[in-house]
Amino acid sequence: MNFEFTEEQIMIQQSARDYAQRELIKDVLERDAKAEFPTQHVKALAELGFLGMLVDTKYDGGGMDTISYVLAMEEISKIDSSVSVIMSVNNSLVCYGIEAYGNEEQKQKWLKPLARGEKIGAFLLSEPEAGSDATSQRTTAVDMGDYYLVNGVKNWITNGNSASTYVLIAQTNPEKKHKGINAFLVDRHAPGISIGPHEDKMGMRSSDTHSVMFTDVKVPKEDRIGEDGFGFKFAMKTLEGGRIGIASQALGIAQGAYERALKYSRERKAFGTEIFNHQAIAFKLAEMHTRIEAARFFCLKAAWLKDQGQPYGTESAMAKYWAAETAMYVTTEAVQIHGGYGYVREYHVERLMREAKLTQIYEGTSEIQLVIISRAIMND
Ligand code: CAA
Repeated sequence: MNFEFTEEQIMIQQSARDYAQRELIKDVLERDAKAEFPTQHVKALAELGFLGMLVDTKYDGGGMDTISYVLAMEEISKIDSSVSVIMSVNNSLVCYGIEAYGNEEQKQKWLKPLARGEKIGAFLLSEPEAGSDATSQRTTAVDMGDYYLVNGVKNWITNGNSASTYVLIAQTNPEKKHKGINAFLVDRHAPGISIGPHEDKMGMRSSDTHSVMFTDVKVPKEDRIGEDGFGFKFAMKTLEGGRIGIASQALGIAQGAYERALKYSRERKAFGTEIFNHQAIAFKLAEMHTRIEAARFFCLKAAWLKDQGQPYGTESAMAKYWAAETAMYVTTEAVQIHGGYGYVREYHVERLMREAKLTQIYEGTSEIQLVIISRAIMND
């Protein structure tokens, strides 16, 4: 077993860290307050090759491995998860899905501009009544011969307005239940698509989350991904990788909050000494650090399995579960260590705490990860 990173992985980690610590930090508080989309940063991440980092170079991607992706996601998320979620959705849910399951024409047409970061994508699975229960798709894609006619509403869509390409999941044959679901590539500007208002979220406020409405939208037959009825499996397989992204995001949030709490505890004095010297604080930091290290191992193991071409669905659920729970725990403790200062925006930890909460909810709640893990144990 080798715990050392390669030179290339370290270089990618350093480049993500440099960008985050030098550029993202400058306006993160303002963007959070104004819920402003990070247009310039998305452009810069595209130039760094991070928006399609996992895609093969022959499709204009970065050709990087999943370990590098974990390292980069952690660094960006230490500073701003509104930016890292855009990167994660584009890489894991959109580019990966097309590269793994699309045909050659789809890769040439849809994947290349996404991999270059010229366009960004969104993954449209959730609906008002189909969140955790993803098989209950109400959006319909009726087979009309040459095309599908799509009607319905998608909810909580990250990049809902900023994306140019949608990966849409919809029901074609309701009588076949999940085996009647399909996945499609859809141009966001296709006639019949309308976008709901920007969701005013608690955290990750500057990523754009919207509902997307489809009214008689015509989707050409050639834009279906895979065989008829492959859509649910497609979504499940794609989410397995997505969960490595969000686990790494949660890891970064936790590490960011921990670093701030550690620094503060070395500077802040109470009862005649730096608060770090009080066991009540030192033990908190030790617990935070240990939980984070465990989360990091989970993320890296899931990534390593994926890079080796081995199954990683259970491990990505474990990584997502543990890292999200850790992020919530660590950020809450970081606020506590900061006392009153922790409760004001300037010290960042309250924002990280708000961001942590979302990692327990999206790309499958913590409870959904436990469903996946418990089923794997039972089938073992
Ligand atoms: N890989 C391949 N196939 C899978 C699979 C996987 N990981 N998981 C399930 N399947 C298959 C099953 O084998 C089964 O197929 P067969 O009938 O052919 O055997 C089929 O899918 C149905 O599986 P289940 O009976 O297990 O389905 P279920 O209804 O019990 O649900 C679930 C399973 C894991 C709970 C799933 O519904 C799920 O993951 N829910 C959460 C959805 C989610 O994560 N949503 C996030 C939205 S995206 C988002 O948040 C992005 C963003 O913008 C940031």
